[in-house]
Amino acid sequence: MAVEPIAWQGDRLRLLDQTLLPAREVYLEAMDHRQVAEAIGSLRVRGAPLIGIAAAYGLVLASLRLPRGDMARFLAGLEEAARELASTRPTAVNLAWALERLLGRARACASPTEAVAALEAEARALHLEQVEADHRLAELGASLLPQGGAVLTHCNTGSLATGGMGTALGMLRAAWRQGRIVRVYATETRPLLQGARLTAWELWREGVPCTLIVDGAAGALMARGQVAAVVVGADRIARNGDVANKVGTYTLAVLARAHGIPFYVAAPTSTIDPATPDGDGIPIEERPADEVRCLAGVPVAPSGVDVSNYAFDVTPAAYVDAIVTERGIARPPYAESLASLLSGGSAND
Ligand code: MRU
Repeated sequence: MAVEPIAWQGDRLRLLDQTLLPAREVYLEAMDHRQVAEAIGSLRVRGAPLIGIAAAYGLVLASLRLPRGDMARFLAGLEEAARELASTRPTAVNLAWALERLLGRARACASPTEAVAALEAEARALHLEQVEADHRLAELGASLLPQGGAVLTHCNTGSLATGGMGTALGMLRAAWRQGRIVRVYATETRPLLQGARLTAWELWREGVPCTLIVDGAAGALMARGQVAAVVVGADRIARNGDVANKVGTYTLAVLARAHGIPFYVAAPTSTIDPATPDGDGIPIEERPADEVRCLAGVPVAPSGVDVSNYAFDVTPAAYVDAIVTERGIARPPYAESLASLLSGGSAND
């Protein structure tokens, strides 16, 4: 049974609190954009595409509460709410992309009343497009995977991260249904265990064979010949194909190259950021030190120890064998293949 992490209910947004999974399935009802911003910042809602969808509905909630007398004041209030939502997580470009798309729609309206209706329609459209993109991406990407192998993935890129069937995890689901792959290795993904708590849970619910490993075990499995491919998601892909994704992704890419294993990135085109030339320009979110000092709220390190807690890292394009999107599969050189996908043409695959 597919999990529904987000549902628009006309005047409120229903969100599955992912911080409590897999122990408890608790849903929240956000009534205003500040509650949505809190849910994004605290990772109750996470995964780049889902953050974008949540922010879009958050802006609809803000619009419902703004005074409708004057269009200029209405737009100023909307822009302020968009800034609050955008500041929650800087790396996932889907967040800024979704907000900009909705703001553009509102600016084209003649009155606040017209804008409120247009914003709701746009947020619903964006949500539906992501569900459809996941399907296309999964079918396209599954064909890349070697027959009969086991595939390693990192973090969570499933329904919980997109509201659809997922990106990298959607590809793996499709490949398993086709009888193409036999097993998924899920890294636990310290510090917040999205792999252990969320990916293993999603695959287990669906009956997809899944083996959970500690992050540090990936190289040993590759050396033993147990990994046929690595597939991960992305939070932002720069114009040259450099990929920001959950910290640890870069390590996996280097290991995969060292072992001659293909390394694929799966993401919707909304994750490609043509305004950022390369990985150096991608803002990397730093999160609280206690996420590392503690495990599930229990201290596992001295309380005063220094911590580095970058939530994401950048994998240079040179380590990425292909980028799978809903519009096609891009291959190096990415500056050309990604530009071609974004302009509506076909990639070079
Ligand atoms: O910090 P998170 O859990 O939001 O990080 C999620 C990831 O890194 C995913 O790989 C990425 O957002 C793609 S989700 C389809």
